[in-house]
Amino acid sequence: MIKEQWDVNDIPDQSGKTAVVTGGNSGLGYEVSKSLASKGAQVILACRNLDKGREAIEKIDGDSPPDVMQLDLADLSSIRLFCDEFLKKHQSLHMLFNNAGVMQAPQLRTIDGFELQLGTNHLGHFALTGLLLKRILGTEGSRVITVSSGAHRTGNIDFNDIMKEKKYGRLAAYAQSKLANLLFAYELQRRLDLLGSSTISVAAHPGYAATNLQTTGPGMGGGWGYTTLYKVTNKLLAQSALMGALPMLYAATAKDVKGGDYYGPGSLGGMRGYPKLGESNEKSHDENLGRQLWERSVELTKVGYEELLSSKSH
Ligand SMILES: NC(=O)c1ccc[n+]([C@@H]2O[C@H](COP(=O)([O-])OP(=O)(O)OC[C@H]3O[C@@H](n4cnc5c(N)ncnc54)[C@H](OP(=O)(O)O)[C@@H]3O)[C@@H](O)[C@H]2O)c1
Repeated sequence: MIKEQWDVNDIPDQSGKTAVVTGGNSGLGYEVSKSLASKGAQVILACRNLDKGREAIEKIDGDSPPDVMQLDLADLSSIRLFCDEFLKKHQSLHMLFNNAGVMQAPQLRTIDGFELQLGTNHLGHFALTGLLLKRILGTEGSRVITVSSGAHRTGNIDFNDIMKEKKYGRLAAYAQSKLANLLFAYELQRRLDLLGSSTISVAAHPGYAATNLQTTGPGMGGGWGYTTLYKVTNKLLAQSALMGALPMLYAATAKDVKGGDYYGPGSLGGMRGYPKLGESNEKSHDENLGRQLWERSVELTKVGYEELLSSKSH
């Protein structure tokens, strides 16, 4: 049972632990980084813009000073460079937060030609996790926390048009990427179970939190209608970024968390409130779909998760 109103004060001491937070300079990622640093963790903010990352760490206090490293999830070569550098510098990785994301962007491509939202939100994190896996598996009790959204409920994975070249919709592409986040988190847990690993894969969502998410993507390509709408709904409905970050912090640090759990706010249909164990839709648990997406993600990113292949059935 989760304590009512669980918050940052309930996070146990994190001294000696290392965390990587993608998108740690803004919104939920910033709040996660700040909270973990305040509990003694060594936090690495993985940011596409180093200046923004440096500005963020200047505002964070902690016993172990936080670090910033360059990572562009929309560029596989940047992900490889980040991982090479991280593996050289760090001998453990207790928490990987697959958090960074872009929402409702117009039809754009990553450097490698992937549809931007699937490429950044899912494929980038798929590659990142795979390339860091040996450090994650080598750290007893480590956790991979993947951030999804209530938007997964309207998502579909269309393997015949996964890059949405035939029919593009800003919201549909976001929903696909957020369903992909959950399919990945659960499939990773199934593979970790087969391996008998102490690492767990957990998912979380923030409900509705006022961050830059509602301006960055929607504002691209003349989307002023969306940004105007979000200005109003952010004032009326959204909770703070810190409240939105609590389910991720719970998933990363609480003792009773199990692999494959999904945490989100417990009030107003999962839109606001303190963390609770939540439920994602049936499709996100579809093992066939999870396996197919995994295989397609390996083909696209060329990241093979070899460390998991020593398990009995893969
Ligand atoms: N806020 C909500 O209500 C809400 C609801 C459901 C789910 N979520 C999820 O929460 C996560 C965090 O979003 P947020 O609300 O904190 O939004 P945010 O304030 O816009 O933060 C997003 C972060 O992702 C980074 N990012 C975007 N593209 C990137 C790339 N190619 N490579 C590396 N980093 C990249 C951004 O960097 P820049 O600062 O350089 O742009 C920023 O640091 C996302 O996965 C989102 O889908 C949020």
